[in-house]
Amino acid sequence: MADSNNTERMARTASAGVADHVRAALPSSNGKAVAEEGLAVETIDLVRAYKVGNNDVLALRGLSIQVKAGRWVGVKGRSGSGKTTLLNCIGGLDHPTSGVVRCFGREITRLSDGQLTKWRREQVGFVFQSFALLPTLSAFENVELPLRIAGAKDRARRARYCLDLVGLTRWAKHRPYEMSGGQNQRVAIARALANRPKLILADEPTGELDTTTSRDILALFRRIVETEGITILMTSHDPIVLEYVDEVLELSDGQLINRWENQFE
Ligand SMILES: Nc1ncnc2c1ncn2[C@@H]1O[C@H](COP(=O)(O)OP(=O)(O)OP(=O)(O)O)[C@@H](O)[C@H]1O
Ligand SMILES: [Mg+2]
Repeated sequence: MADSNNTERMARTASAGVADHVRAALPSSNGKAVAEEGLAVETIDLVRAYKVGNNDVLALRGLSIQVKAGRWVGVKGRSGSGKTTLLNCIGGLDHPTSGVVRCFGREITRLSDGQLTKWRREQVGFVFQSFALLPTLSAFENVELPLRIAGAKDRARRARYCLDLVGLTRWAKHRPYEMSGGQNQRVAIARALANRPKLILADEPTGELDTTTSRDILALFRRIVETEGITILMTSHDPIVLEYVDEVLELSDGQLINRWENQFE
């Protein structure tokens, strides 16, 4: 099992060879809305075992990670390495078999189902590979939906702000089938932002997009980290994603086997 000391030993810092297109996506202002001090997410000895027939499948095998607040962290690893399981345990969509998940200092593995739902609704935005938009609702209505569920005041203004942030002001009335994959993912990102979450969990968000569109979406995520001060944890198979993130965690068989940082300045 990779303990945190091993993890530190394995950590390496990537050289400063950041491609120009990634640098171009960075804002010129260096004023982050959230200081990089403090932890957004911490998992300690996280285990998730699934029963399959008579066998236990260990999706996470004592996984300990830390994600600093205000950072964008990518999670890589081959299929079946536990990436989605990790995100689901952090987001409260799945319950770990044992171990601790702490988000912004709060031990979410101790929360009741009701408290977990509330926490998730208020603090976490999810983005999925398949967008997961409601097909009968317009872009605006999809973004407004979580605000409606939360009973938020002033939700039309907030939904418009989020659509504007992702560059879709003029597409507000369109339904998902009238928009491209990249536009649909922008709507999904706007929806994830609607409730002003502190954390975005994105599972393979560029998995269904071509390279150019993926880069547009990744530049958008970079802007969101920088201007909104949100922490992002993102799984991906796509090597392009790893160019944009602040830090990469690599999983294998439910364990952390490597960690490194990109240096943009
Ligand atoms: N609900 C489930 N029931 C049984 N086994 C599961 C379940 N969910 C995940 N697993 C198993 O747990 C392991 C980790 O799965 P997970 O989906 O987290 O991997 P992943 O890294 O996200 O893979 P991919 O890159 O293909 O999305 C796999 O062996 C998978 O078969
Ligand atoms: Mg997955």
